[in-house]
Amino acid sequence: MENLNVPQHIAIIMDGNGRWAKNKNLSVKLGHKAGADALKKISRTAYDLGVKYLSVYAFSTENWKRSDSEVKDLMQLFSNYFDALTKNCGKNDLKVKCIGNIFGLPEDLQKKISKIEEMTKDKDGMNFIIAINYGAHDEILRAVKNICNQVLTNKFLPSQLTEDFFASFLDTKNIPNPDLLIRTAGEMRLSNFLLWQLAYSEFYFSDKFWPDFSEQDLLDAIKNFSARKRRFGTR
Ligand code: IPE
Ligand code: IPE
Ligand code: MG
Repeated sequence: MENLNVPQHIAIIMDGNGRWAKNKNLSVKLGHKAGADALKKISRTAYDLGVKYLSVYAFSTENWKRSDSEVKDLMQLFSNYFDALTKNCGKNDLKVKCIGNIFGLPEDLQKKISKIEEMTKDKDGMNFIIAINYGAHDEILRAVKNICNQVLTNKFLPSQLTEDFFASFLDTKNIPNPDLLIRTAGEMRLSNFLLWQLAYSEFYFSDKFWPDFSEQDLLDAIKNFSARKRRFGTR
């Protein structure tokens, strides 16, 4: 492959499952199912390309505002997805981590998340980071509350708080910031995803609905990224 600069960390806002289903006269539930299938394929491609960290936005803190039946279907889909990850974890070296307010999820899902994280904690292949019940505002507030408690109990002084120290209170502790953010379905917004961590990431938007996002589309995004010059404020 021609000089491909594969990002170390790719983050994806997997959007458009609902519109994909609507266009095909299918239920939203089937749209989300197709989205989960797309994720299986794209995570494999990312792994094969040598991506070290893949972060995907699966459910936001705002997505609870959807209908009870859609939320229920999504929780069931996540449950099945974690079962499949657990079943296949002997066959690959994915290290799975969930970010977000995990304690706000149904208990059975919390257990499945702990199980897959525990089972894969020593793997050294691709880090697969699933944002579920994730909102950057919520993440930052949880970090600030934690920091305040530590200051109150004299663990450190406010003056000792540096950027790196602050970042170590976020759910993404020990995870490098994304190099490339991809959002599908033509929307050009962050929808409360990784606000702190995306400060210097490159953004790539695709009009495709997430279930249609193909291996070639991922390659196109990476090719586009490869041609960019990142400056981080320098000349
Ligand atoms: C993304 O697809 C998946 C989740 C937010 C869970 P959407 O369900 O948002 O699809 P659209 O945006 O309605 O098409
Ligand atoms: C963002 O998509 C969340 C996920 C992809 C999980 P949304 O569809 O919820 O975002 P908005 O509402 O269009 O901003
Ligand atoms: Mg959407």
